[in-house]
Amino acid sequence: MAKEKKILSKEEIIKQKIRVVCICKGIPLGKILPALKSSKTVEEVNKKTGCGSGGCSGERCGPRIQILLRKMHGDKS
Ligand code: FES
Repeated sequence: MAKEKKILSKEEIIKQKIRVVCICKGIPLGKILPALKSSKTVEEVNKKTGCGSGGCSGERCGPRIQILLRKMHGDKS
């Protein structure tokens, strides 16, 4: 029996690749998705979610959020 190939949405692909965005604060991707949709910068996402305010001050989650924003909104910069 042939396995049916599931077509994933952009959000589903992102969810599967990164489950916890902010390791210091334990903030999962599912929790920041609404902020990613409505934000254009890492600072905006941080303000809305609390990411970037942990022990590393966003050194680890900042680049992840940047990548997620690019994937979400495309590379327009
Ligand atoms: S991983 Fe987000 S503040 Fe450290």
